[in-house]
Amino acid sequence: MSTTNETKNILGLHLPTDPRWVNLAELSLEYILTDHAYCEQKAATSCISLIQRYSELEKLVTELAPIVTEEWGHFRLVLAELHKRNLKLGKQRKDEYVNQLQLFQKKDGSPEQRLLDKLLIFALIEARSCERFKRLSEGLDDEYLRNFYRRFMESEAGHYHLFIELAETYVEKSIVRKRWQEWLAYEAVLMQKIEVRGDRIH
Ligand SMILES: [Fe+2]
Ligand SMILES: [Fe+2]
Repeated sequence: MSTTNETKNILGLHLPTDPRWVNLAELSLEYILTDHAYCEQKAATSCISLIQRYSELEKLVTELAPIVTEEWGHFRLVLAELHKRNLKLGKQRKDEYVNQLQLFQKKDGSPEQRLLDKLLIFALIEARSCERFKRLSEGLDDEYLRNFYRRFMESEAGHYHLFIELAETYVEKSIVRKRWQEWLAYEAVLMQKIEVRGDRIH
């Protein structure tokens, strides 16, 4: 099965990452690990924000509480990897991908639409991270790093499914499906606009 079809089947993403991306990534491990560390940190804080904002949604709170711990654990793993290699955690940089995604959220929609967009944006970020980790787990020369990224890939795939499942818990399935397709189309255009960068997870 080609990567394109496989990616579509697993995650629904319309546009696979440029294959050159892994080669670029290998050249700047310090940057990619730094960027990865902040992605994990943001994933943890985003889950906390959702729990705070939607404290009345019992399933959401119950399901996301352990994800906070998991994402923070990921951050610590990446930090340990940096330190083990005598690399430094650099400064957090502007995340163009996430900023551009946020522009597509329906800010003046109904509470249900806003919740749906929040859950789908997180599903999308997880899906794209997962796809990038898959690339790294297959394309890097270093076997240890390939396994390192495989573990992240599996974990983020689970999170992607969880966010979709939560969306379908609170919003009618057909509405979720329709909006998800709109998000996928928007993300594909966005990915084409953003230049290929070797030191970013997304
Ligand atoms: Fe993670
Ligand atoms: Fe995640």
